[in-house]
Amino acid sequence: MKKIITAWDVEICNEEGRNVIEVGLDDIVTAVAEENMQRLGISLVRKDGRSTASGEPVGSKAIKEDLPATPHEGDVLSEDFARGWQKEFPILQNIIHVANCSQAPQSLRVRKGIENYLDSWLTTGMDWDYWIEETVKAKHEFARLINADPDEVAISTSVSEATASIASSLDPQGARRRILITEAEFPTVGHVWLASQKYGYKVDFVPVRNGEIRLEDYERLIDEDTVLTSATHVYYQNGFKQDLKDIARIVHDKGSLFYVDAYQSLGTVPVDVKAMDIDILAAGNLKYLLGIPGIAFIYVKHDVAPHLKPAVTGWFGQENPFSFQIRYLDYASDTRRFDTGTPPVLAAFAARAGMEIINEVGSNQIERRIEMLSAFTRDLALERGLELLSPVDEKKKGATTAFKVEGDSHDVEEALKAKNIIASARGNAIRVAPHFYTTKDNIEEVMNRLAEIL
Ligand SMILES: Cc1ncc(COP(=O)(O)O)c(C=O)c1O
Repeated sequence: MKKIITAWDVEICNEEGRNVIEVGLDDIVTAVAEENMQRLGISLVRKDGRSTASGEPVGSKAIKEDLPATPHEGDVLSEDFARGWQKEFPILQNIIHVANCSQAPQSLRVRKGIENYLDSWLTTGMDWDYWIEETVKAKHEFARLINADPDEVAISTSVSEATASIASSLDPQGARRRILITEAEFPTVGHVWLASQKYGYKVDFVPVRNGEIRLEDYERLIDEDTVLTSATHVYYQNGFKQDLKDIARIVHDKGSLFYVDAYQSLGTVPVDVKAMDIDILAAGNLKYLLGIPGIAFIYVKHDVAPHLKPAVTGWFGQENPFSFQIRYLDYASDTRRFDTGTPPVLAAFAARAGMEIINEVGSNQIERRIEMLSAFTRDLALERGLELLSPVDEKKKGATTAFKVEGDSHDVEEALKAKNIIASARGNAIRVAPHFYTTKDNIEEVMNRLAEIL
């Protein structure tokens, strides 16, 4: 059985006057244990005899050094690049994972981020300064991803909570009474807007036609009564991608706020909130941002934040969380006012590590590789007679390609799993959602197996 070597093991080793720790090939050495070994001059020896000099990391860092070089802006991410990065995701040695629209595979770096928190808690008992600092660093990483300022970012626990927070911040006494949302929103976002009708708003829908949304429908439906327009960037069902810049122009011409759910795009599609003129954006981390459940981020533009007063709030959203006064609300002057209670620290450690990978590889480079994989998937699917539910044009979609399933799509998900392929069923579709580390060989294997099953 796998052993986990923690800082305690290092401590005991030191107390006993030993300067070597022997571990099995599969044993895991935590980040803090590695650091302490380095500090105390203790070496690690794997059972295969491979020795590591005092404290030299044998885990993810060693593998990280083995990863392909960070690409430059404009580089095309090759098959070798993708294959090289698969080492960072242990499950990809045995399994083809194309369910990134649902949950990304575990990377060593994200695992290490989580271990850093667990080790810190284990060895220090409590280190709020370090833990809160890490949540701030996660905000910075998110801000970098969307070209925002870090003080335009708040932390939430899910996109549902983030959206509820925004809904609760609109002025129910304001002149505008209508919230316009698309039929392509993930249902949870729709549920939150529908629930906000109790504040006196009326919710109307922009239709999905043949799996897509037309700009002219925004033109037709947004009016002077619309307080907020809610649009998903990429449609969770079939990967259809909207042109946010064009929608923003229409939304702002009518004086509405523009809210974007970027959960299905961030990590594979570049988002620039300034260039796209987005007022508010929310996204979670477990899909293409390579993280885990429990955290989501909210961007609210500098000029907009001071006008919004969230009723979903708490001490971390106040100007000084540690003033410990209970008599009045004193919202933070910037987007930090959308922070609520104690932040999800563990998930923040994971989120930061995942987003760091995306920022390192680069959203522009990833987008080009995803477009290539989309075109490759489409061509193989059409050759095999599979029914595509996604846009044919790879420029009009994110990473997800959806295929029609007659009968229960979960059966197809299970049948693929039996062939070592993880894909994601949703409604009448099976979704194939690669990432930058997916190879063309992987896609070919998935298409071959899918053609056998469907
Ligand atoms: C586009 C989109 N928004 C929101 C969600 C769900 O958000 P949460 O569970 O964080 O509220 C999903 C989940 O799959 C999604 O795909």
